[in-house]
Parts: sequence; C-alpha cells; structure tokens
Amino acid sequence: MRIDVFTLFPDWFDWFSSQRHVANVLAGGSTVECVDFRAATPLSGGQVDDTPFGGGAGMVLRVDVLDAALRARYGVDPVELRSRRRVVALSPGGRLLDEQLVAELAAEPELTLLCGRYEGFDERILEHFASDVVSIGRYVLSGGELAAMVLCDAILRRLPGALGDERSAEEESFSAALEGNPEYPHYTRPADYRGWKVPEVLLSGHHERIAEWRLRQSRERGRRERGEDAATGGGAT
Ligand code: ADE
Repeated sequence: MRIDVFTLFPDWFDWFSSQRHVANVLAGGSTVECVDFRAATPLSGGQVDDTPFGGGAGMVLRVDVLDAALRARYGVDPVELRSRRRVVALSPGGRLLDEQLVAELAAEPELTLLCGRYEGFDERILEHFASDVVSIGRYVLSGGELAAMVLCDAILRRLPGALGDERSAEEESFSAALEGNPEYPHYTRPADYRGWKVPEVLLSGHHERIAEWRLRQSRERGRRERGEDAATGGGAT
C-alpha cells in the first residue's frame, strides 16, 4: 500500500509513522509519504488559501493550488487522476468512515489523501479532483490531518505485519466472523477483582462453549447498538 498525504503539516505524520504498528507495515514496503501543498503553489509567498466568495469567516483552500500540487506529484491532470487511483478528501460532510469503507480502501494499491485546513476546500476540488469525500464523524476538526491519520491507521493495521498476532484482526469488531457486530467483551487476570468476577464460561477451557458465548455477546451488543431489544434476541448469559 502506498499512501500519499497532501497536507500543510507534513511533520505531524513523523510521529504517526514512528508508531510501532505503523512502522512494522512500513518496514514491509508500504509507504506513507507527505506532500506539502505549499511546495508547488503557483501563488507568491507560499499562499494556498483565500477568503470565501460571499463572505464569512475563515479561509478556503484554493482549487488552483490543489491542481498544481497534484499535477506536480503525478504529472497528469488531476481530473484524470481520480480514474487511476482513489483520491480521498477528508471533510466533515463526507461519507462516514466505517469498517466497510476501510476494507474497500485497504484493498487499493495506492491512495491519495487530501487534508483540508481552515474552512476546508473550495468545492471544485471535491467535485473535480476527489474520487471520495470521507468524514470520520459529525464534528469539525481544525483540519483533515487527524482524520487522515485515523484513516491510515485503520487501513494499515489490516495489512500483514501490523499486528503481532494476525489472528487479532480476524475476529474483531464489525468483522464477517462476528456478522458485522461489535466485538464481545474481553477479560484478563485477576479473575476476581473487588468481587467483579470474570464470566465462568471463559475459565472453563471449553472452547466450543466459549465461542458460542462470545458470538452471543457480540450479537447482543449489535442489537443494543441498533436500538433493538437485546432480551428478545436469544440469551444474554
Ligand atoms: N476535517 C475537519 N473535520 C473533519 C472530520 N470530522 N472528518 C474528516 N475530515 C475533517
């Protein structure tokens, strides 16, 4: 997986890339490379944004700056680029990120992420250059960088080598193994802490019963999340 992140703050990603699970994947040949919008701006003084037409607070990332930055990196008209690789703009109003979208993006060989700043992007960037507009939640961050890191983390942890134990990714929240439900609860030692006991079944060593219990718990959490009555759907033991 090769990920290019277009940002005004490339050094934010130094910390991210040095985290163990990310570094493991990068050591295996994947890349996260940052491209500074400012480096290719056609405007003087490193200008990349401007005041919004129609008035209002804040600054808006300019379409000509993005055009120049993408063209400098890929050597093609950015309008063509999005038919060759997914170009994902991070914006609070985009498609909500979920495990399905993560899986879809993780299957791509290459990705381009665009991080907005200030009031965000000139709409023409989203309309003409981006293949996807993705939001990590219905709240506004000061820029797309943290959202891009969330997306990179969710993608990279799926790749071989990220997690010490590959099995940890198989049966986790929202996986097919759990029918798309949240993961079941986990416990570790001590088995009894201040009278809070670990469910007996987990101490039984009976693998089949444990698997059944976990699936039941996971389904119940799913029903609760969807606002359905957990008690009607088959056992909360
Ligand atoms: N940029 C600012 N807020 C954002 C959010 N919630 N998701 C994605 N990008 C953003």
